[in-house]
Amino acid sequence: MDALRRLIPQRAIQRRVRALAAELSRDYRGRSPLFLGVLKGAYVFLADLTRRLDEPPEIDFIQPSSYGLKGTVASRRVKVLLHPTADLQGRHIVVVEDIVDTGRTLRFLRRYLARRGPASLRVCALLVRTHAGNENERLVDYRGFTVGEGWLVGYGLDCSERYRALPEIYVVEGEQ
Ligand code: PRP
Repeated sequence: MDALRRLIPQRAIQRRVRALAAELSRDYRGRSPLFLGVLKGAYVFLADLTRRLDEPPEIDFIQPSSYGLKGTVASRRVKVLLHPTADLQGRHIVVVEDIVDTGRTLRFLRRYLARRGPASLRVCALLVRTHAGNENERLVDYRGFTVGEGWLVGYGLDCSERYRALPEIYVVEGEQ
């Protein structure tokens, strides 16, 4: 059994999601943005965020390959398991991520999307892991929370496909 310690309560998540939605509503007013959710983990954040925008955006998804447990297959290259269906050329794209950890997925996605000729490309991530010297903050335009070490679950994030539906964010403290 995993022991879970609550890290970010539901009310704090919802307050931050409201603030991000207000900021995005201002920045994208009248621009018909395409919100691109990164599966699987971003599905909860994407749903909450987009329902709070002033103007309903177009929604699409992309699913990069998952590493499973981080660190165990660190050298594996990111691939795309599910491509967006929309034509991305000339669109204002907002990538919606649950967490930017090593930053590898996001660096890959930025290159993948830039090749498709969007009018603009920005990233909204609920959680950004910062380590000394990493460039994650630079990769993210709209950030929910900065987090430190520890395996996080809940609000879309999983541990071996468990805990995604929990409404709050927890740190796994027991065995994984
Ligand atoms: C998580 C998260 C990001 C990625 C970030 O996905 O949703 O896409 O890891 O990690 P990185 O910055 O080290 O690349 P995961 O691989 O756990 O797949 P999932 O979203 O399907 O759970």
